[in-house]
Amino acid sequence: MITIHILNGPNLNLLGQREPGLYGHRSMPDFMVELKQRFPNHRLELYQANREDTLIDLLHESALKADAVVLNAGAYTHTSLALGDAVKAIGIPVIEVHISNVFSREEVRHHSYIAAGCIGTITGFGLEGYALAVQHLIGLDQKKSGLQS
Ligand code: DQA
Repeated sequence: MITIHILNGPNLNLLGQREPGLYGHRSMPDFMVELKQRFPNHRLELYQANREDTLIDLLHESALKADAVVLNAGAYTHTSLALGDAVKAIGIPVIEVHISNVFSREEVRHHSYIAAGCIGTITGFGLEGYALAVQHLIGLDQKKSGLQS
């Protein structure tokens, strides 16, 4: 059993209502119910913050309380050197997720301050991106514990 923190950044508390053409009609708490059912042997905890400093504090806490992080930093992805530094500082695996395909959008969204510190980036698969990230992190842990070759 591993603990994975799912950290969502600004405006992602509005999922389901916010630009549904881009981000879909489903709220994150609703999707979390499904996600927990799909990975019943692991602890998945959702946190959301609109403020950059709070997101940094959440990452620091994840280092103490979680085995890995799935991070959708929203627009801070493209602006926050501090958040990128925090990802590099915490010493546990982080996967960057974006619901939309950031590379098919405005050029300002093509750069990520987070990506270099992450083990990988998943973008454009809708909410399913969170599930793909969780699946990968569980697989990584199983490899580490020698349960899989
Ligand atoms: C996002 C993409 C960002 O560019 C945007 O600012 C968001 C959401 C996504 O999940 O597609 O807030 O991270």
